[in-house]
Amino acid sequence: MEKIEILSSEKSDVYKELIPQIKSLTAYEPDTIANLANIAAALKETFGFFWVGFYLVKRDIQDTSKEVLVLGPFQGPVACTRIAYGRGVCGTAWKEQKTLVVPDVDQFPGHIACSSLSKSEIVVPVFHNKTVVAVLDIDSDTLNSFDQIDAHYLEEMLSGLIINNL
Ligand code: SME
Repeated sequence: MEKIEILSSEKSDVYKELIPQIKSLTAYEPDTIANLANIAAALKETFGFFWVGFYLVKRDIQDTSKEVLVLGPFQGPVACTRIAYGRGVCGTAWKEQKTLVVPDVDQFPGHIACSSLSKSEIVVPVFHNKTVVAVLDIDSDTLNSFDQIDAHYLEEMLSGLIINNL
């Protein structure tokens, strides 16, 4: 797919147009997988990111006293299927319950390299009743692709999203 170039100054405008479209696409659809799949597709199509997808907090089938992040709907190359609490960028965002912007993945201790092409990353937790139930992970094949503008609008995009039928 051809790389889509979006200038940093245009980014806010693109998000401002995209968010209402995503909200209307998901507001009346109760199926979580359908909604997550469309959000991943919309972000990939709009920005041309290398990888966009969700990891869902699920009970660990090997140790049912634990929870683990399991790969959900995504767009891009095949990826790691399970991520432990506190591991990698995704597991850390889950543990710290906050958005993590990673300008250079090689500088993030414990980063999980699903692809060597991934250079920078943002992970945004999805909350239900103040508990993290999923994370949105976006990877870029260039350094420094994400900043607080992405964090702000992605958090807004995911606020109110209901994750209920896993
Ligand atoms: N890099 C992530 C793992 C997921 S893949 O990038 C799709 C991490 O460190 O948590």
